[in-house]
Amino acid sequence: MAPAISSRQARLFIERVPARRIAAAAGTPSYVYSAREIRRRYRAFERAFAAREHLICYALKANSNLAVCRLLSEEGAGADIVSGGELRRALSAGVPPEKIVFSGVGKTDDELSAALRAGILAINVESAEEARRLEDLARRLRRKARFSVRLNPDVESGTHAHVTTGKAGTKFGVPFAEALAIYGMARRGAWLKAVGAQCHIGSQITRTEPYRQAVRALLKLVDAAAGLGLALRYLDVGGGMGIAYDRGRYLPPERLAGALLPALRGHPGLKLILEPGRCLVGPAGVLLTRVLYRKRGGKRRIVVVDAAMNDLIRPALYGAQHPIVPVERRGGASSAADVVGPVCETADFLAKGRLLAPVEPGDVLALLQAGAYGFSMSSQYNSRPRAAEVLVEGRYFRIVRRRETFADLVRLERGAEKTARKGGRRALTGAHRRNIIG
Ligand code: LLP
Repeated sequence: MAPAISSRQARLFIERVPARRIAAAAGTPSYVYSAREIRRRYRAFERAFAAREHLICYALKANSNLAVCRLLSEEGAGADIVSGGELRRALSAGVPPEKIVFSGVGKTDDELSAALRAGILAINVESAEEARRLEDLARRLRRKARFSVRLNPDVESGTHAHVTTGKAGTKFGVPFAEALAIYGMARRGAWLKAVGAQCHIGSQITRTEPYRQAVRALLKLVDAAAGLGLALRYLDVGGGMGIAYDRGRYLPPERLAGALLPALRGHPGLKLILEPGRCLVGPAGVLLTRVLYRKRGGKRRIVVVDAAMNDLIRPALYGAQHPIVPVERRGGASSAADVVGPVCETADFLAKGRLLAPVEPGDVLALLQAGAYGFSMSSQYNSRPRAAEVLVEGRYFRIVRRRETFADLVRLERGAEKTARKGGRRALTGAHRRNIIG
């Protein structure tokens, strides 16, 4: 089967649709996702772990568009959520509550209560104080709280410091002794039900060894909990499987399964939970952006495009290198270019010193591997309405999130109604005056 996102005769296709056509119809910048690629990735994950009872909980934070969540939910995926908002997204995408796990170091009372009312599979508790709070809320709501403890296994995952989460000293999870104390507390009380042990050691991990170490630590915890009389049912190893950005290393699910499944043989009763985000949706998405201007900065070739750090913050935040290609390649030699956006920050770049074919104003470029942590981390900085999102299926595509408008930008601000309706300078001044007096 042809790759879902591929170049044919110097033209980029998303499944069977030329990327240029999507840019013309949806405008730029736009995120475009291939439904077939998302399904293919999910199924590969399922196959890799088929030998063992397991549940794949898609980490919604990677791409929480409802159409994407629905697609994965229809495939049978559960959800890993990190906020009340993601809980509501998961439920409205049709994910059954008994397939939802809830991580995060700072869950509020409202969020914990909502999760209890929904009856989700497990709340991944990240501190003793959170466990006590959860117990109080469960008692008040008269609903038993099913929980896992998130262990901080103190392993080095070899990834970017910003996305390392399994080292001691980070804010995530609890060390072994505290984890055990939480299980002990649950054992003594009436409202906490310990169902599992969880960890998540980082993101964009490309080696199996950190996972092996994490699983070893989790199994030690499971055994210690058994010593307290608790038979845990779930072993949740989190997400973090890396994808290939600029021809780099990645971690395919078969390789992860090959490392994890043998380690679990001594514990046949445990159901394995995985929380992949990036590897399911990252390679299935591109960001389309249009060239505005070309210029030189000293000796450097600079290409100014209409997408910016507010649309894709990964290059500025992590030094991420997304491949970048014209959707219709012109003839001529490639040369190194900085691809930058219109935002007023030096960190506003999408690529630096990257080989790029000749381009002209109006050409459309595609940033590849952009389906994860692209739109979901975007903002309206510089009062830039957020991009549209498009889902492609075979020869069809549809807009699954329309481009924001100026009215969307000011909707929640005082005087916005008038401003948005009238537009223009006078209305803005009017709104301003009212705000100062009022
Ligand atoms: N489970 C938990 C508890 C998580 O915190 C995360 C991601 C995942 C699962 C999914 O990880 P994944 O399979 O997607 O690597 N914004 C960063 C990534 C931050 C990841 C945060 N947690 C980036 O753009 O690289």
